[in-house]
Amino acid sequence: MEIVETKDYEEMSILAAEKVIDRVLKQPQITLGLPTGHTPVGLYKRLVEDHRKNETPYQDVITFNLDEYTDLSPDHPNSYHYYMNHHFFQHIDIQEKHAHLPDGTARNLDLECERYEELILKHGGVDLQILGIGQNGHIGFNEPGTPLNSRTHVVKLSESTRKANSRYFHSLQDVPYHAITMGLATIMNSKEILLLASGAHKSATMFRFFHEAVTPDFPATILKHHPNVTVIADRPALKEA
Ligand code: GLP
Repeated sequence: MEIVETKDYEEMSILAAEKVIDRVLKQPQITLGLPTGHTPVGLYKRLVEDHRKNETPYQDVITFNLDEYTDLSPDHPNSYHYYMNHHFFQHIDIQEKHAHLPDGTARNLDLECERYEELILKHGGVDLQILGIGQNGHIGFNEPGTPLNSRTHVVKLSESTRKANSRYFHSLQDVPYHAITMGLATIMNSKEILLLASGAHKSATMFRFFHEAVTPDFPATILKHHPNVTVIADRPALKEA
C-alpha cells in the first residue's frame, strides 16, 4: 500500500485528480468506480477544470458509482445521481449510457443489485476504484459487520451513518434508512484502488484503518488484502496514524 500525505484538502484533491487524469489518458476506455460524499468534491472540481482546459476525453470512459440511497428519485437533490450530475457528469463529455449508478427506486431492489453487479462484471470489472471512508470504517455503504465476500446488496444504514449524512438533508428523518452499495468483494475486484481521506474528524478512523487487522468490524481494513492500493490523505487525517 502506498501512502501519500498531503498538506491539506486542496493538495489531496490535486494529487488524486492527477492520478485519475493519468489513468484516463493512458486508457481512454477505462472503467472508473466513483464515490460521493464531501471528500471527492475537490477531486471532481479539479477534473472538471482540467477537462475545460485540456479537453481530457471522457467519451469512452465507463463509470460505476459505489452506492445510492433507496427511495430517492434521481432528480432528488440528495440522491447520488443528482450529486454526480451536479459535480461531475454534466461538466464533462461522458456519454449518459456509460455513467452507471444503482437504481435505488427499483421495484425489486435485490434484482437491481444483481443487475448492477453483472453489469460491472460484463464491463470487465472496475479498473480504478476511488473511495472515501466513513468515520466508522465503511466504504461505499458497507457498514461494520458486512461480510467480506459481499457483492452489490441492499444495506440498512447505521444510525451513525444516517446522522453523519444528515447534514445534507433538512432533518435526520429525511435521511433514507437503506441504500444499495457495491459489496466489499465487488470493491476488492477492482484492479487499482485510490482511498481518499481528509480532515481531523477522520484521524481516529485512519488510525484504526492502519493499525487494525482485517475485520468486518471495520470494513475498510479489507483493503490491506488488495495488491494495488494508494491512500492519499491530508495531514489532519493522518495526525494520529
Ligand atoms: C457516505 C458514502 C461513502 C463516503 C462516506 C464518507 O456515507 N456512502 O461512499 O465515502 O460517506 O463521506 P465524506 O466524504 O462526506 O466524509
